[in-house]
Amino acid sequence: MKIGILGGGQVGQALWDTIHMEKENILNILGEPLEIKKVLVRDLSKKRDIPKDFLTNNPDEIIYDKEISLIVEVMGGEEPAHTYIKRALEEKKFVVTANKEVIALHGDELHKIARKKGVDIAFEASVGGGIPLIKTIKEAMAVDKVKEIWAIVNGTTNYILTKMEEELRDFEEVLREAQKLGYAEPDPSKDILGLDTKFKLAILSSFAYHTTIKPEEIYTEGIEKISLRDIQYAKELGYKIKLLAISKFYNGEIEVRVHPTMIPLSSPLSSVNGVYNAILLRAEKRGDVLLYGEGAGPYPTAMALLSDILEATHTILYSVPRYYSFAYLYPSKIKPSDEIYTRYYIRLWVKDQPGVLAQIAKILGENHISISSVIQKETSEKEGKAELVILTHKTYEKSMSKAIEEIKLLPILEEWGSLIRIEV
Ligand SMILES: NC(=O)c1ccc[n+]([C@@H]2O[C@H](COP(=O)([O-])OP(=O)(O)OC[C@H]3O[C@@H](n4cnc5c(N)ncnc54)[C@H](OP(=O)(O)O)[C@@H]3O)[C@@H](O)[C@H]2O)c1
Repeated sequence: MKIGILGGGQVGQALWDTIHMEKENILNILGEPLEIKKVLVRDLSKKRDIPKDFLTNNPDEIIYDKEISLIVEVMGGEEPAHTYIKRALEEKKFVVTANKEVIALHGDELHKIARKKGVDIAFEASVGGGIPLIKTIKEAMAVDKVKEIWAIVNGTTNYILTKMEEELRDFEEVLREAQKLGYAEPDPSKDILGLDTKFKLAILSSFAYHTTIKPEEIYTEGIEKISLRDIQYAKELGYKIKLLAISKFYNGEIEVRVHPTMIPLSSPLSSVNGVYNAILLRAEKRGDVLLYGEGAGPYPTAMALLSDILEATHTILYSVPRYYSFAYLYPSKIKPSDEIYTRYYIRLWVKDQPGVLAQIAKILGENHISISSVIQKETSEKEGKAELVILTHKTYEKSMSKAIEEIKLLPILEEWGSLIRIEV
């Protein structure tokens, strides 16, 4: 059985190594050897551990090779990966990919082509690295109804937030260290701004709710505005700040959002630290299912790819009927983001004078927001100013947005700090 790989970078190399290291195991599972015929790279002269004879810089040598019946895409990015996958499926080749961007943006289209051509596209490696998330949702949860997803699926942001919290260091300083250690890309914007998490949530939610969630429908905030002060206040109040991917499906409406979230120390997600990922699935019959593990890294990712490859290869070799997922079946109704109903933490600098708290409490009260606690600290840091932290009970996002607009117009406001949603 011959396969081709599009991409010979970190993951492509790890897959090459894994397939060679696991030769015997693979032979036992498949009943015949798995051979990598060609690997597509951009630069043939680059030093790498894949022998030169196996490399090509011409994608057609893999996509249109009649001997190759399965193609693994590990190039990354939307294009040309999306076009190559599409061509491969049209050529009736099975595709296995680690590309969250392509699946989040074009999963629906690619699945339709795959079914029409009698093949399939598998992408376990696109979310959560080595953690078997897609298989769990696609197979184990197929006849249960997933009602909620709570997930930490970006190792870079989780590493930064963990370091800020444990070592009481600023965002910028920890980010620079993460880049030096290889935990953050030279251009970290996709991770920091929450875009990577948004793509992953689009994939997970489409599968969990059997529909199509487009990334642009997901309300998204990154961690770039989280300050050390917020981290310290969260700690003092018994919370941690995590970049959460949240989705819920109730009454025919899907709520999907990605934003920094304060979670209590009693939540199992609060102990997911560093580059680790975790996903909490709340299902109707099964209740809570928690999956935890290494969310990235070339070798865990190669393992996820290999499990998809073995399953697809089995289908090809023994004509086993494919177990298709239920994703993309139904249209989705997305709940408007101003209808989010949650608790809030707000932090602001105000004039240090009597009656300030009463003015803020009045605005919150007029917008039907009830305060659960207030911290006001005397500080010599900013003369004449006091820092105020307010935690609210549950309220609607639209009420909170209106109240903040009004608070920002108050003459007693010196400086706006931050707003973080609290979930339990
Ligand atoms: N790294 C991880 O831990 C991890 C974890 C989970 C998922 N993933 C996903 O896995 C995929 C690959 O990631 P990676 O870290 O292995 O990336 P990478 O190290 O940048 O490797 C990309 C490979 O694709 C080749 N390539 C890129 N564009 C090409 C083009 N237009 N034509 C021909 N070849 C091209 C590159 O060729 P050259 O070598 O010649 O430059 C390189 O070999 C991405 O979708 C990523 O999101 C990665």
